[in-house]
Amino acid sequence: MTDMCKLEEKNMSAIDLVSEINRLRRERKAVILAHNYQLPEVQDIADFVGDSLGLSQQAAKTQAEVIVFCGVHFMAETASILSPTKTVLIPDLGAGCSLAQSITAEELMKWKVEHPGATVVSYVNTTAEVKALSDYCCTSGNAVKVVESIPREQEILFLPDRYLGQYVETVAKRPLHIWGGACHVHAKILDEEMETARLAHPDADILVHPECGCSTTCMLKSLHQTSGQKMFIYSTEGMLKHVEKSDAKEFLIATEVGIIHRLHKQFPDRRFYPLSPNAVCEYMKMITLPKVYETLRDMKFEVKVEASLAAKARLPVERMITIV
Ligand code: 13P
Ligand code: SF4
Repeated sequence: MTDMCKLEEKNMSAIDLVSEINRLRRERKAVILAHNYQLPEVQDIADFVGDSLGLSQQAAKTQAEVIVFCGVHFMAETASILSPTKTVLIPDLGAGCSLAQSITAEELMKWKVEHPGATVVSYVNTTAEVKALSDYCCTSGNAVKVVESIPREQEILFLPDRYLGQYVETVAKRPLHIWGGACHVHAKILDEEMETARLAHPDADILVHPECGCSTTCMLKSLHQTSGQKMFIYSTEGMLKHVEKSDAKEFLIATEVGIIHRLHKQFPDRRFYPLSPNAVCEYMKMITLPKVYETLRDMKFEVKVEASLAAKARLPVERMITIV
């Protein structure tokens, strides 16, 4: 039985649900943060919708006592690291991330032993244990700046996403040791699909997330603008900022499809085409409106990073939110 069916059984309409969420969020002094890949109805009730960087910044500065994190587990952990005195809740504990699972703390420890003295830069899509072993964290929105802030002669281990690593290496013009991880959703967005979509929408600006399998080819095309079409690599929030300043009427979007809702809402006069309509993150979609309601009602499920682990992970995460 779906969450919506269960609610219907209890005679609770979608309108009741939203008003109950609103009542409970006031009562609990809670803020609802939602990632750009969340379901449309979840984005619509959130106090703030954004990318990993924006959500971390919000989690760090909020005055609310409770943070309901509508995103995946590593995002809620990051909020707990930044705001240890707040209650961080996630509506479904099963909302994981294939990319965060692509490196363990044990694997990172071994890698560090092979490169003594190297600086570790971890993408925010990692577990708290991996963050605690890192010198810097970054998001797709500031990965280049974070690497550029480290002295050029310093050896860097970059993890876990290989496509983001190749992007940073090319733009920052310095060699990195790159872990071979990938996101199972973005890695499937490949060059062939890009070529077909590009030919179907020749006037569209093409906006590509650096985790995509096609990002290396796209990046080279974007750096030299050799495709005859405007191509850019961005984090999800970067895509929204690009649309705001672009004169283009059409955009091809290479990332998880959830962002299309926000793009349509914010720019109703433009047209957006998902490059890969099948790019759906099942983890992000685990968060539903009924689950948000139950989270606020029952104050579940708490994500709390243990104090000594959080203390070790805090410096790299704080560096991430300040280097922008
Ligand atoms: P952003 O940092 O661009 O929001 O991306 C997060 C993510 O999980 C991409 O798959
Ligand atoms: Fe993780 Fe990929 Fe889902 Fe982003 S889209 S949360 S990287 S599995």
